[in-house]
Amino acid sequence: MSISKEPYRPLIVAFCCNWCSYAGADLAGNNRLAYPADVKIIRVPCSCRVNPTFILRAFQRGADGVILCGCHPGDCHYTSGNYYTRRRMALLFSMLDYLGIERERTRVEWVSAAEGAKFAATMNDFCETVASLGENKRLEDLRCKK
Ligand code: FES
Repeated sequence: MSISKEPYRPLIVAFCCNWCSYAGADLAGNNRLAYPADVKIIRVPCSCRVNPTFILRAFQRGADGVILCGCHPGDCHYTSGNYYTRRRMALLFSMLDYLGIERERTRVEWVSAAEGAKFAATMNDFCETVASLGENKRLEDLRCKK
């Protein structure tokens, strides 16, 4: 008896700011640029809306990788939101190191509304990197396991 196992596909959560990165994702779609369906996009008003606990919670709920995308520094719709994001994420990265979560599982990228190709390329690269790390077991809440 053989049990067919589906190939491992990572679950990626992408927080995208409404004004640039989400529009970049939209542009990628409009231009038919492919990126894996494993990327689950969550639209947020600004990258600074993402509280670092959202990222920890995503890992807890079974995400294998989390990417946060926002406007390029200096281009934030709310002037300085992404500067706050940058500082917060630097702190979160050191906390994730402490928790034993591989650094490659979290990423911050600046993607403008005109960079559909960059969005697709970033997602493809990130999915590949996370897939090579395998499933994330750290922080996993077994109550959330399917
Ligand atoms: Fe895009 Fe602030 S609106 S990062």
